[in-house]
Amino acid sequence: MSQVKGKVLKHAGQTRLMHWIHLICFVILGITGLGFYFKIITIDYIFGGIGNASVVHRWLGVVFTVGPLLYILTNFGRFSRFIDTISTFTKDDFKWLKTMGGYIPGLKGEVPPQDKYNAGQKLLGWLVIICCFLFFVTGFPMWLWRHAMPPQLLGLCYDIHFWDAVIAILAVAGHFFLAAIHPKSRVEFASMMTNGYVEAAVSAHHNEKWFATLQNDSELKA
Ligand code: HEM
Repeated sequence: MSQVKGKVLKHAGQTRLMHWIHLICFVILGITGLGFYFKIITIDYIFGGIGNASVVHRWLGVVFTVGPLLYILTNFGRFSRFIDTISTFTKDDFKWLKTMGGYIPGLKGEVPPQDKYNAGQKLLGWLVIICCFLFFVTGFPMWLWRHAMPPQLLGLCYDIHFWDAVIAILAVAGHFFLAAIHPKSRVEFASMMTNGYVEAAVSAHHNEKWFATLQNDSELKA
């Protein structure tokens, strides 16, 4: 591990706020949605009945959609850089995927230097964007045009919405495990969930390429 001292700002305040809002919405949407699908009465009961659970689900769906859109509009440069980073796959990213960043026991090999987000996080970023898009394009028609749509199309929306939820929940569970529990990767947990800062030594090791671009010392906090 590098001997670099201090901390670097990895996630700005608005990014952290957006991440928190999206996370809270996602958890409640997932719980209520699975409650509808599996007809889990206890979940409906917690929300005051199935009618209320449905209202909560739909209006949190609005927050889940409008939150990121507002973030993109007010942080366009930051969002473009994020898209640029997660769309850039170099030889180092493919090598990272072969070794899975050294996080999986038994998969040996040298872990190559990474950007602000490693190859796994880049793939997760795209998966989240695609899943959210599918939630929007199925969830709103299921709510607003359910009586105007042909039944087959409505049924297809329900099926896509459900399987999208399954994939998204599994992906977020994996993300949670690596971000909050795995001893090698959880070192960055506080950065997104609290003040945005990460130990410079951790960053220099986990995100070597990005760290090298931080030439401005003011980005380093003692
Ligand atoms: C744009 C955001 C979303 C909107 C507008 C939306 C809307 C809806 C609507 C209208 C329903 C039908 C039940 C009802 O009438 O209340 C539904 C069901 C459901 N939602 Fe969502 N939802 C959204 C996001 C999510 C997310 C993020 C998840 C999971 C994490 C999720 C999981 C589910 C599940 C599992 C069902 C049951 C599907 C079925 O019965 O086949 N939804 N959603």
